[in-house]
Amino acid sequence: MDKKKICVLVSGGGTNLQRIIDAIESGEIINAEIIKVIADRPCFALDRAQKHGIEFSQLKRGKNFQRQLLETVPQETDLIVLAGFLSILSEDICDRFQNRIINIHPALLPKFGGSGMWGHHVHQAVIDAKETESGATVHYVTKGIDEGEIILQKSVLLAEDETPDSLAQKVHAVEYEIYPKAINMALRGLK
Ligand code: GRF
Repeated sequence: MDKKKICVLVSGGGTNLQRIIDAIESGEIINAEIIKVIADRPCFALDRAQKHGIEFSQLKRGKNFQRQLLETVPQETDLIVLAGFLSILSEDICDRFQNRIINIHPALLPKFGGSGMWGHHVHQAVIDAKETESGATVHYVTKGIDEGEIILQKSVLLAEDETPDSLAQKVHAVEYEIYPKAINMALRGLK
């Protein structure tokens, strides 16, 4: 059986990308390969791709960014995986890859999602709202930011003295648990 082709979009350190690379190598993510990693800025995630011999591109944000992105994602991609990608995808890409784009968000959607809710902003908002739990969510990407159907979620408990940094660490740990599982689920669900 042909391996499913994954294209990963990144903007940062790429620890989730690394987790996905490792899970493919170990067989935890079944019958898949990463055919390309694309970044919208210089970032360490690209070093990880290079180290593993995975083809990668770094795009420039700006006027033609969305068109370039659409041209750079290989046509044969089965699943686009956003792993800490900070640019919002255009309607064109969402339409072209409908039900074939997934994202991981560092909170329990539908809470603490939407515009401006990324990185430490999310964790700060969760702490300010005096939530007792947060977590990670893997969901399909649609035109509405963080609004697509949820594939998998896992929660973590907040400590009384939780800080955005300590919460980020806890949430990252559950991200590494659920992203490979959610990728398998999304790959199984491909039509
Ligand atoms: C993760 O917390 C993810 O939820 C969010 O961006 C972060 C990426 O971290 N979308 P990394 O680059 O994978 O370490």
